Amino acid sequence: MNKSVRSMPECRRLVRLGLVMMGLISSVFLNLGASGWASQEHHRHNPQSHVFSDSRKMIVEGRETFRFDTFGDEAFWGDTLRLHEAIAGKKNGGTGPGVSPNTAIAVGLKVDKRALPRSLKRKIRQEKIDLDDPATTLALLKLDAVIGLKGFFDEYGTFKSVGIQCALCHSTVDDSFAPGIGKRLDGWANQDLNVGAIIALAPDLSFFANLLNLSQQTVRKVLNTWGPGKFDAHLLLDGKNAPTLIPPAFGLAGVNLTTWEGWGSISHWNAFVAVLEMGGQGTFYDPRLNNEEKFPIAAKNGFGNVRRKPDRVTKKLPALQFYQLALTAPSAPRGSFKKDAAKKGERIFNEKAKCAQCHVPPLFTEPGWNMHPGEEIGIDNNQAERGPENAYRTSPLKGLWTHTKRGFFHDGRFPTLLAVVNHYDDVFKLDLSTDEKRDLVEYLKSL
Ligand code: HEC
Ligand code: HEC
Repeated sequence: MNKSVRSMPECRRLVRLGLVMMGLISSVFLNLGASGWASQEHHRHNPQSHVFSDSRKMIVEGRETFRFDTFGDEAFWGDTLRLHEAIAGKKNGGTGPGVSPNTAIAVGLKVDKRALPRSLKRKIRQEKIDLDDPATTLALLKLDAVIGLKGFFDEYGTFKSVGIQCALCHSTVDDSFAPGIGKRLDGWANQDLNVGAIIALAPDLSFFANLLNLSQQTVRKVLNTWGPGKFDAHLLLDGKNAPTLIPPAFGLAGVNLTTWEGWGSISHWNAFVAVLEMGGQGTFYDPRLNNEEKFPIAAKNGFGNVRRKPDRVTKKLPALQFYQLALTAPSAPRGSFKKDAAKKGERIFNEKAKCAQCHVPPLFTEPGWNMHPGEEIGIDNNQAERGPENAYRTSPLKGLWTHTKRGFFHDGRFPTLLAVVNHYDDVFKLDLSTDEKRDLVEYLKSL
């Protein structure tokens, strides 16, 4: 009896070792197949073998677009809003006090450590660089080190314009150099970024003022109400002000509808954002936006059919989507949740609390039409009605641990996961005990 019990783990260890060996051997073969002398042979037998090299190319291209493409939106952020002038400040040929690196980090902008030359990193460590001087921000922009912001400089080094990239809102850094400075984490929601406060710095907000029929001063006030980690992607569709949390852009493979309101596929939303939100040069077609009642501003301004030429967006969509599909949600770090409790919590999630009926593992959203009216989850329909389906998309929960700062649900209304669980306990009359709630929370933290 004792003996057989003891031999079980050994057995498992052997099997595991065998699997690792098989993995190693097959990966050696795969590598040879992709690049070495074997590849021609491989091609003859497998006419689809280019699929692997093509997908690698797509991921590299898509990452480039996600991180660095402005789609020509500097025409909006720079030429129209003149945001670059506010960043530069009066001393550097712009207006106002300018944005120093310390100010930039305080409004949630992140700096890519890998874009900084070694000598510069040394000087920052030795405190020989003035992080309170906007001129330093311009130097960082020249290095392409400010994540999501692209500075355009002329041949004399004058700051001429600025554009934004997807990475602005959907990337952060690991803080490995200093708070706000580190390695890029693509796809993570930037929970600190105060988009409203940044736009509000722009000297010329007449574009927004005209569309919304408000004074620039009021627009500025509205933008300053948003706070960190939030953005209102519907403001210029319906003129209402109710920002939502910036969600992660990872963990979406297999997920049907994207966004809180379930606007469409990843690619639909990518085109929507690149053209309508970022102001890029491209094509966007969605006749649902012609609904005058629901989207008065969009309908009046023809946002349902935009064709800015030359189109710099459409050709980028395939690889951009490919890259996003490749961005899996990062696993929760060891020690960030209680393992035993999480295990018990998993059962509660799947059974007693019925969470898995909608958050179907391992997608954690429904395979299929993943939408629910507010009543089904016990909340109002205010935000749902700003979208095309009058419903909310079941949030894919993978990687929840990466975005706990601003609360949960589309507007961050529940400050903690326990508050979310308490809400469902109430609405679904689950009758969960304190321990069960705690275990469920540990499970959510482990996803
Ligand atoms: C200014 C900030 C900002 C920028 C820049 C931005 N996004 Fe987003 N993104 C958001 C917000 C906010 C939402 C949620 C909108 C909603 O649901 O109402 C969102 C939603 C998404 C989603 C859906 C995520 C989900 O959970 O379904 C994807 C995918 C996405 N963005 C990709 C992109 C891509 C690709 C780009 C660049 C072309 C981009 N975003 C640029 C703020 C931003
Ligand atoms: C009827 C379908 C349904 C059931 C059942 C359900 N959820 Fe949800 N869940 C949703 C929808 C829809 C949303 C998006 C809400 C929004 O957009 O504000 C959501 C959002 C969430 C979020 C917020 C995610 C984020 O990024 O902020 C968490 C956490 C969550 N659910 C956990 C649970 C747990 C735990 C249970 C079981 C007690 C559960 N859900 C049961 C549909 C459901």
